[in-house]
Amino acid sequence: MILPVIMAGGSGSRLWPLSRQLFPKQFLPLTGESTMLQETCARLEGLEHQPPLLICGDDHRFTVAEQLREAKQGHSGIVLEPAGRNTAPAVALAALRATVGSESDPLLLVLAADHVIRDVAAFQDAVNKAIPHAEQGKLVTFGIVPTGPETGYGYIRRNADGDTAFAVEEFVEKPDLATAEKYVASGDFYWNSGMFLFRASRYLEELKAHRPDMLAACEKAMSGAAVDIDFVRPAAESFLACPDDSIDYAVMEKTRDAVVVPMDCGWSDVGSWSALWEVSDKDDNGNTTRGDVILQDSKGCYVQSDSKLIATVGLEDVVVVESDDAILVAAKDRVQDIKKVVNQLKAEN
Ligand code: GDD
Ligand code: MG
Repeated sequence: MILPVIMAGGSGSRLWPLSRQLFPKQFLPLTGESTMLQETCARLEGLEHQPPLLICGDDHRFTVAEQLREAKQGHSGIVLEPAGRNTAPAVALAALRATVGSESDPLLLVLAADHVIRDVAAFQDAVNKAIPHAEQGKLVTFGIVPTGPETGYGYIRRNADGDTAFAVEEFVEKPDLATAEKYVASGDFYWNSGMFLFRASRYLEELKAHRPDMLAACEKAMSGAAVDIDFVRPAAESFLACPDDSIDYAVMEKTRDAVVVPMDCGWSDVGSWSALWEVSDKDDNGNTTRGDVILQDSKGCYVQSDSKLIATVGLEDVVVVESDDAILVAAKDRVQDIKKVVNQLKAEN
């Protein structure tokens, strides 16, 4: 049986001014009525699975609990990190939670809480195809056909032989632009979707082989964990001593036992306003609007209002986002630079 593990600890800054440290994008309703976390839970319906295990920062415990309650979504616990140590330790805490002191060794379906997936059936189909491989002890990643040389993703070169899954020949996390361009041009690489399926014990074995320091810190933190009805709190001192690294660098680049299952599901990690525009519904002029918005003679824009009416005239490829204390106006092809604004704000405060 699958145990979904939903990682909801990130602090997205590229969707400023909506996404903030206390309210990162996984907790926002970016594409519809439900928040991205709620949509991540909802797209599990139809798969055979246990209620999801959530893992997030202690700061976000009430947001997560409230959003699950609002969606009438049950869960198998919410693990609270006293501070983020990135995804490799987060998944280790989940794997330990799932196995220590119990007979079970579930298949963990590791999911990011902040992805858009438009074709849920294709997502579930890929997960179902991955199950037999994970049952045989493989670490399964889900591969997306790249559409450009994005440097914020992991790249996976697959072996040509395979049917539903292909051996991973090479996994390169966040290559530089020249390398990413070469990979995309070669046609041999997938993007890593950031979702994984493996047995809890297999992940822990791999972590032991490649990052024993990390595993030791997480084991110590979980052996001293305080557990109440909803929340699991790893021992803070032990967890804070854990090194910081992502599952991609710590395990996926190093393991020899990974396979990739292609996933063609209208996936986006909505890492920017332009990415959100790409996956959103548009009017005949290619504009996406949310809230109270009037457009005159405007094309290819993303315009989102929170409380005020926004009107645009004669704009092309512009992003306008209003929130209670800030307004963003940006060229759509420059939205990656919003992180410079966020950094400047951090420096000034
Ligand atoms: N609980 C917890 N704790 N969750 C975390 C932490 C943490 O310390 N850090 C990140 N997360 C969550 C984020 O909220 C997100 O849902 C997910 O884990 C992935 O983290 P990101 O920080 O968004 O990773 P990334 O986008 O740079 O890279 C990953 O995703 C790409 C696809 O979107 C990698 O797996 C790449 O290889 C992949 O291409
Ligand atoms: Mg991400």
